[in-house]
Amino acid sequence: MKKDLISITDFSKEEYLRIMELAADFEQNPNQNLLKGKVVASLFFEPSTRTRLSFETAISRLGGRIVGFADPGSSSATKGETLHDTIKMVSNYADVIVMRHPLEGAARYAAEVSDIPVINAGDGANQHPTQTLLDLYSIQKTQGTLDNINLFMVGDLKYGRTVHSLLQAMSEFENPIFNFIAPPVLQMPRAYKHHLDDKGIRYFEHEEFTDIISEADIIYMTRVQKERFSDPIEYEKVKNIYILNNAMLENTKPNVRILHPLPRVNEIATDVDANPKAYYFEQALNGVYTREAIIAHLLNLK
Ligand code: CP
Repeated sequence: MKKDLISITDFSKEEYLRIMELAADFEQNPNQNLLKGKVVASLFFEPSTRTRLSFETAISRLGGRIVGFADPGSSSATKGETLHDTIKMVSNYADVIVMRHPLEGAARYAAEVSDIPVINAGDGANQHPTQTLLDLYSIQKTQGTLDNINLFMVGDLKYGRTVHSLLQAMSEFENPIFNFIAPPVLQMPRAYKHHLDDKGIRYFEHEEFTDIISEADIIYMTRVQKERFSDPIEYEKVKNIYILNNAMLENTKPNVRILHPLPRVNEIATDVDANPKAYYFEQALNGVYTREAIIAHLLNLK
């Protein structure tokens, strides 16, 4: 039976740990010919730099070939072809589909239509499970554990799909604490807070974080998702609400690390880039090894 990765909850905690183990192996030895003779379809209906290019790098390092598009404007979607028909066709051509789409639920629908595994590379404001697996790998590498992590999530917690998936994954580990820092209009959706309530996990909500930043193990900054706002005036009100700078990191834990799924706009001042606590560019590199691991796991290659 085929296996998809649409929501982070499609994988168990044991599978998260298996992905971490495989990613560490690929980091040591990235070029492994496991995808020789296989074709991966990369369908990006929404812009991407890191996710698409790190997937394509991962596939190349595994010896596979890639077909697809980075711009739906070059596909027959512009002629009115439905997602159903596109996926039906592509699943005849390839061995696995990687898809990003602006609509929440589009990836789940694609998985239902497809005869081959589908990997969700981000669906609207919903989920970004492959980002979460590379985030877990980054947390484990920098903290030495995924247990007892005090995780600060900062910025657009309403539309930011990466924080939704990450919250669910981290809630599987021992004793996490979540601090949500967001303006009232961008707070973590209620469904995710209920998920924590159901598991008895502590979380705190704030509008400012300068007084409490010293407690953080991980500060996960996010971009305000301009493309998800229906009213541009509402975006203008919150677009620069949190800007992390070097001075703010002075009294933080020695081992705190700053993560950001990227792209950044203004949320992290460039003076932070040279600070050893900044980890976002290494985090993006971890995406290659983690995506090699995800493909190997879903296709049972190792
Ligand atoms: N983190 C992430 O999804 O980046 P891209 O939008 O560039 O793929």
